[in-house]
Amino acid sequence: MAERFVPPYPPRPAAPVPSWRGLYGERARTLVYGWSERAFSETYLFRKVLGWRVHIPLEPQAIQHVLLNNAANYEKPRLVKTLLAPVIGRGLLTSDGPLWRAQRQIVAASFNPPAVDALVPVFAAQAERRAKGWAGGVLDVAEEATTTTMQVITEALFSGDKRLTSRTALTHIAAALEGFSEARLQVLMGLPVFPVTLRGLRGLRGQAYLRRTLTQIVEERLRPGAPDDFVTGMIHALSEKYSRAEAVSLAVDNAATFYLAGHETTANSITWTLYLLSEQPDLQEAVAAEAQAALASGADARLPTRLPLLQSVVEESLRLYPAAPRFDREAIGEDEICGYRVRRGDFVSIWPWLLHRHRALWDDPDAFDPQRFTPDRKKGRHRFQYIPFGAGPRTCVGARFAIAEALTILAVWIARWSFGSVRRPVRLSGSVTLRPLGGMPLKMTPRS
Ligand code: HEM
Repeated sequence: MAERFVPPYPPRPAAPVPSWRGLYGERARTLVYGWSERAFSETYLFRKVLGWRVHIPLEPQAIQHVLLNNAANYEKPRLVKTLLAPVIGRGLLTSDGPLWRAQRQIVAASFNPPAVDALVPVFAAQAERRAKGWAGGVLDVAEEATTTTMQVITEALFSGDKRLTSRTALTHIAAALEGFSEARLQVLMGLPVFPVTLRGLRGLRGQAYLRRTLTQIVEERLRPGAPDDFVTGMIHALSEKYSRAEAVSLAVDNAATFYLAGHETTANSITWTLYLLSEQPDLQEAVAAEAQAALASGADARLPTRLPLLQSVVEESLRLYPAAPRFDREAIGEDEICGYRVRRGDFVSIWPWLLHRHRALWDDPDAFDPQRFTPDRKKGRHRFQYIPFGAGPRTCVGARFAIAEALTILAVWIARWSFGSVRRPVRLSGSVTLRPLGGMPLKMTPRS
């Protein structure tokens, strides 16, 4: 029996923290901060935030109702669309109805199993390339993971365009993501989004850089001799359905959507997994042995299937630290969830963070236990109680890509390097995705 290991999570006050505390300070910077113990045992929570009515269902059946059975009644909230519009416009993540369906159809083929399996060598090559620069010692694996997943998404979807992986790009994109927390408050209060701090201003500059660069890339793809990649396929497919201006605008929206959604989340999962393994050296040794054996037959399309132990660790890591700890819907008509009346315009907030650590759904929910994800134990579980990638028609289109990528990068790195704890307290951060505050320095030693 492995020793019980409870990785860190934010303090849980005895009484719920008032909703307005979510608007500034730690709760605004760290979206999983401030939940009381009660939130992990109730079946339903209801909040009023600045006049917005927010329902938080915490029973798998209720979540299934919102995300699948009655999905037609729930759209992406207008508020979220306004907040994200300057960066990802009306792309796949932020559209609804026929526009969403048309875009989902266009991109689906790039993320089906054969398309993703064919990318495994690309994932492995980028992991190796990054590791070549390592000399051992203490390194921020969060930064390593982010740079690597950014390279991967650029190689896989944008033919490796250097404009998306330069240092300038990295700085601007980090600033654009940071800027969201300031804009969020303004959008919530119905104010125009106007930067009031240096962080907000840098965020706007970052967004402008990304949009400008992606617009150039999309327009180049309309010229003869453009590379045959995801962006080119998308702009041509969109051009068949929409006017040229509309097709370009949607292609830029989707290029931004896939570029951002496609790297930060996976980088976080890789980072949390490395952290969890750094705290459990015996398990890390077992994962390393599995990775070495799996890589002995090459980094081929089937590599991820030869890593069952690592897969269970990654799944457990996504349970404890879901990269998207919360996502929202807005009711477009009346409904009832768990006996509670939902009015048109109400928010329904889905919280993997609460669901994945809920007392009624998991034994010893805060403890790390990859055995939860052995095929036998997965069988008896409600499929809406573990939803790191969402569920229903709006489920993450990149889920298979993300898992194959995380498994491949982790296997390549762990097979050759060991990752040790630097005994530094770990705190969580992030107003959209869940990251370790101040990065994740780990002590890296090459394996002999
Ligand atoms: C560990 C990594 C990832 C996690 C945890 C994650 C999580 C999620 C979640 C929870 C949703 C659903 C949101 C909702 O229902 O409101 C989603 C949607 C989406 N994800 Fe991911 N994602 C990951 C990786 C990726 C990757 C690698 C890509 C692309 C290459 C991607 C692209 C998207 C897109 C485009 C959507 C919108 C799908 C739609 O609405 O039809 N994600 N993701």
